[in-house]
Amino acid sequence: MSEAGLPRTEEDAATALARLAEMLADHDRRYHEQDSPTVSDAEYDALKRRNAAIEAAFPSLIRPDSPSLRVGATPASGFGKIRHALPMLSLDNAFGPDDFADFEARARRFLGASAPSLHFVGEPKIDGLSISLTYIKGRLHHAATRGDGSEGEDVTANIRTIASIPRRLAAPFPDSIEIRGEVFITKADFLALNAAQQARSEKIFANPRNAAAGSLRQLDTAITASRPLRLFAYAMGEASAKIADTHWAYLERLKAWGFDVNPLSTRLDGAEQAAAFQERLALERAGLEYDIDGVVYKIDALDLQARLGFVGRAPRWAIAWKFPAERATTVLEDILIQVGRTGALTPVAALTAVGVGGVLVTRATLHNEDEIARKDIRVGDTVVLQRAGDVIPQIVSVVAERRPATATPFVPPTHCPVCGSLAVRPAGEVVRRCSGGLICPAQAEEHLIHLASRGAFDIEGLGEKTVREFFADGLIREPADIFKLADHKDAIAAREGWGKLSADRLIEGIEARRHIPLERFIFGLGIRRIGEANARLLARHYGSFDNWRTQMRAAAMIGSEARSDLGSILRIGPAIATELAGFFAEPRNVASLDALAEGLTIAPAEDVETVASALSGKSVVFTGTLATLSRPEAKALAERLGAKVVDSVSKKTDLVVVGADAGSKARKAAELGISIATEAEFRVMAGIPGDGTPAP
Ligand code: IVH
Repeated sequence: MSEAGLPRTEEDAATALARLAEMLADHDRRYHEQDSPTVSDAEYDALKRRNAAIEAAFPSLIRPDSPSLRVGATPASGFGKIRHALPMLSLDNAFGPDDFADFEARARRFLGASAPSLHFVGEPKIDGLSISLTYIKGRLHHAATRGDGSEGEDVTANIRTIASIPRRLAAPFPDSIEIRGEVFITKADFLALNAAQQARSEKIFANPRNAAAGSLRQLDTAITASRPLRLFAYAMGEASAKIADTHWAYLERLKAWGFDVNPLSTRLDGAEQAAAFQERLALERAGLEYDIDGVVYKIDALDLQARLGFVGRAPRWAIAWKFPAERATTVLEDILIQVGRTGALTPVAALTAVGVGGVLVTRATLHNEDEIARKDIRVGDTVVLQRAGDVIPQIVSVVAERRPATATPFVPPTHCPVCGSLAVRPAGEVVRRCSGGLICPAQAEEHLIHLASRGAFDIEGLGEKTVREFFADGLIREPADIFKLADHKDAIAAREGWGKLSADRLIEGIEARRHIPLERFIFGLGIRRIGEANARLLARHYGSFDNWRTQMRAAAMIGSEARSDLGSILRIGPAIATELAGFFAEPRNVASLDALAEGLTIAPAEDVETVASALSGKSVVFTGTLATLSRPEAKALAERLGAKVVDSVSKKTDLVVVGADAGSKARKAAELGISIATEAEFRVMAGIPGDGTPAP
């Protein structure tokens, strides 16, 4: 994936970005909310890098909700929410000395001629769970997880059970101060916890990070109290008074207040010392009590940190230099085929069990058939596995000398292994898919899991495991069946492990979702390429369920006006339009959707907060390079003024805002006699001061 070339056209780039946004949002959710990621950190990083590379090549396509501007995922339900006084952000990664040099050069460039020599503090990077602790008048007042970076979960009660976190700061202290750090669990405690969990037939944690997160986010604090959680403090949030001049001095204050600060933290005089520290820790790593996946380097002077500030989701004054991934060799016993919600047939490696970095591995992702062919991976091969602080490891290469004569190249399946429908791989795509649609039990089942899941209908009590069991027993076969489960309440109560109380709760959870916002309904349908962001776009564009349904039915016809309207919604684009049209062209899908909708009240999309303006209700197109506004900024402004921003110029367009180098769209607007505004004129309409000349 990371080696794929950049898209050539803007259209392909938009499609690729939409897809990446969806995948990343999904991985974020799995990682941050469900504590069970399905891709390795390395794969995740590769997706992020690809997103950044495409955005760098097509800056006009940067979405306001771009994954590069976001950290984490929305907070899970069950806990109260706490809004962070200052957002909790993430760190950019470095993978070698060159990346570190780039980081330093960027900081110097930003500071300009006045840049003094830079000193750093290096701190081991523990992959745990970042936490924000607010002390008022020296007492622990509240504690929150990172959540989506702006809002986290209130875990105050849980945090109070951790012995090494002071309830009161040792004096002197400022009136209010927020302290940030990492909650983690040691390697030995992790193994012991998993052994105990196994003995009780309870959830096994994939790694120490998940164990720490799972232990902290317990509604029952007695469980948290029973888990050996620890904390290293390492950063500052908001404070009512100045604490220190340097990060190093701040760490000293943290210790004086009673916090554990990682004893390996070290002051470093420049890049050379940083590289030496990196090497030292790479050697010491295996002997440490806890897992680390790299070192965080922070510019020591706090006034420089303040000047450097943040870009996107990460500070300019810090970087995480990651260690190379851990590797091992083993034998590929078989290649299995997994069927996903949209019919994607994904090859998975079945391996002879082997330990990599302390975790026993029997499965690895093989991505897709092109990857298998590119690496020439064959059943029977000895393969090199890589795991980078993660869950699903990947196969890096084959040990050619150890290939047995019997090893045969992988033959992609011609039929779906679950329903037997034809497996097809459309030209230009890497994924082969089952063509069975909803008649494929595997796809139907994955659809139901998706529908009940968090970003979609978010049905309490109807998690993946329950959906699979109900599906297997025929209690639910299609979406509408979920809302008929009340008819089977007694049967559910009689199921093993259930009882009346759980059955009642489940039905309550389902009833609570009969009233559903349009965007969640659309997302819940699980249509390929329609992730949360696109579902929101559609809901806002079409307003009501009835209108959306009517327009989609009409859009199923190639060449219809509804189809071109759909394709002109900014960021929807032709690939996504085709996918939606395909969904609505299939009568079984429409029947299933109607059956579901019948039992529901679908709330129209909430409008973006708008102000009455000359642009209210107008359809606006931006074209060319704007000098003073980024595209996302211009778009957000127009939307706030009540305009609908679309991608292409048509008879229905009301206004075209032209920047430098505007081409065919400006010409078309002139031909059609549509109003044209310059950027400066647009600024006037939007009520932003300034004459529109670029800021120095
Ligand atoms: S500083 C704005 N320091 O790494 C800077 N983070 O990839 C905020 N982490 O979310 C983080 N050790 O969970 C910082 N010594 C350290 C850290 C550390 C681990 C984690 C933290 C953060 C993530 C970023």
